[in-house]
Amino acid sequence: MAILVTGGAGYIGSHTVVQLIDSGFDVIIIDNFINSTPEVLNRIHTITSKKIKCYNIDLLEKDKLKKVFSENNIEAVIHFAGLKAVGESVKRPLYYYHNNITSTLVLCEMMKEYNVKKLVFSSSATVYGSTENVPLKENSPLGATNPYGWTKLMLEQIFSDLHTSDSEWSIALLRYFNPVGAHESGLIGEDPSGVPNNLTPYITQVAVGKLSKVHVFGNDYDTEDGTGVRDYIHVADLANGHLKALDKVLTNPGINAYNLGAGKGYSVLAIIKTFEKVSGINIPYEITGRRPGDIAVSYADPTKARQELGWVAERTLEDMLRDSWNWQVKNKNGYNKS
Ligand code: WQD
Repeated sequence: MAILVTGGAGYIGSHTVVQLIDSGFDVIIIDNFINSTPEVLNRIHTITSKKIKCYNIDLLEKDKLKKVFSENNIEAVIHFAGLKAVGESVKRPLYYYHNNITSTLVLCEMMKEYNVKKLVFSSSATVYGSTENVPLKENSPLGATNPYGWTKLMLEQIFSDLHTSDSEWSIALLRYFNPVGAHESGLIGEDPSGVPNNLTPYITQVAVGKLSKVHVFGNDYDTEDGTGVRDYIHVADLANGHLKALDKVLTNPGINAYNLGAGKGYSVLAIIKTFEKVSGINIPYEITGRRPGDIAVSYADPTKARQELGWVAERTLEDMLRDSWNWQVKNKNGYNKS
């Protein structure tokens, strides 16, 4: 029996695939490489000594997806594949709704046809919208503030309706907070295309000399130092959360949402200072205006994941930033060897 990982060559997908293989699972990847590269498969092979079966297809290609299910004995699916740039989703909503929702409907219909009803879904803390009531619990009010967030929230609703229609479905909705860091080997990591939207890859690109300084988006929030506070979680801890959720969906029908966060918040300036400490590199920054759509504070109450999945984020902020820097130093241009 195999675990199908859609988007398995992506940032969180690849770290999860490594842990699945290390735990003895047979893994099959589907990836269209729109936001990743086949080089990731070579790196996974180097880390695990296992060659991965990967289908370079888009989930929207129904006939090719059918071939994946007919050729393999799939036990469960971990579904990462999807577009995830908040700003791009505002500019191109139809592209985001079609890609993220239609592709997931095609996947679920194929799963149903092959009687595969165990699913771990890559959701996001963005489904909590702009609520300021922290720490966020799974029953905190839901709402989205951009098309990307709406695709996650709509898909959670689709999965809930699917389970209501057929209680044999077993679904875990994993709401990620802010994933950062990289595998300890530095062989796989976060490789954003173009100028990074997220804070930590931006910092490492400043440190490695690709960018000149960090723009701190506002220091007039109601926080300790005025800058935005977020719940950062090591990608290896996040990957482990998927294995814990897989264990649950393999044995228990039902549908559950889980916050995957460390349960504490750090400000932008604290991230910069901690990075300087672990790397020994000074990070120049400039305070600029707030980024539209940003909220002041977001961090998780991860109690439910601890109680029901036996999962806790173990790595520290220093671990996250040290591993991010190790990846960046070893891969100045990401996976692009040139
Ligand atoms: C973190 C903090 C910024 C960049 C996003 C998505 C979310 C999820 C995780 C997918 C904020 C500040 C950032 C910079 C800055 N992705 N910042 N200068 O916005 O919390 O979450 O990534 O699921 O959906 O919205 O992450 O890293 O962009 O920002 O000052 O150059 O750093 O204002 O306070 P965010 P981020």
